[in-house]
Amino acid sequence: MTAVAERLEQDGTEVGWVPVCPYDALVPDRGAAAIVDGDQVALFRTADGAVHAVGNRDPFSGANVLARGIVGGRGDVPTVASPMYKQAFDLRTGRCLDDAAVALPVWRTRVRDGLVEVLAPGRGRR
Ligand code: FES
Repeated sequence: MTAVAERLEQDGTEVGWVPVCPYDALVPDRGAAAIVDGDQVALFRTADGAVHAVGNRDPFSGANVLARGIVGGRGDVPTVASPMYKQAFDLRTGRCLDDAAVALPVWRTRVRDGLVEVLAPGRGRR
């Protein structure tokens, strides 16, 4: 589901926080896929309570599967491993820990009134 809650000016770019789902609907250490402003986003609630949003498309296989990846960690880095070829991505930065040349897009998230919201670029940027 998508809905644009508010529009803000930020660096001249129209942006908006999109409410995606109730925080309680996210199972700790499991992913969920959502469409945010036309993009497939993989949402994760990690065991520490943080919510991360990265691109759902696995850049190595081209498949939209990262929401079904395995959540884990390397040292202090929270990660998701692609279910396809198992590359691990930093959930905070999108950086691939197995190939420095590759990164997932990352969206900012927040929890407001019990809802997970994702900051989406406005249509003006497309
Ligand atoms: S429950 Fe539908 S997107 Fe989260």
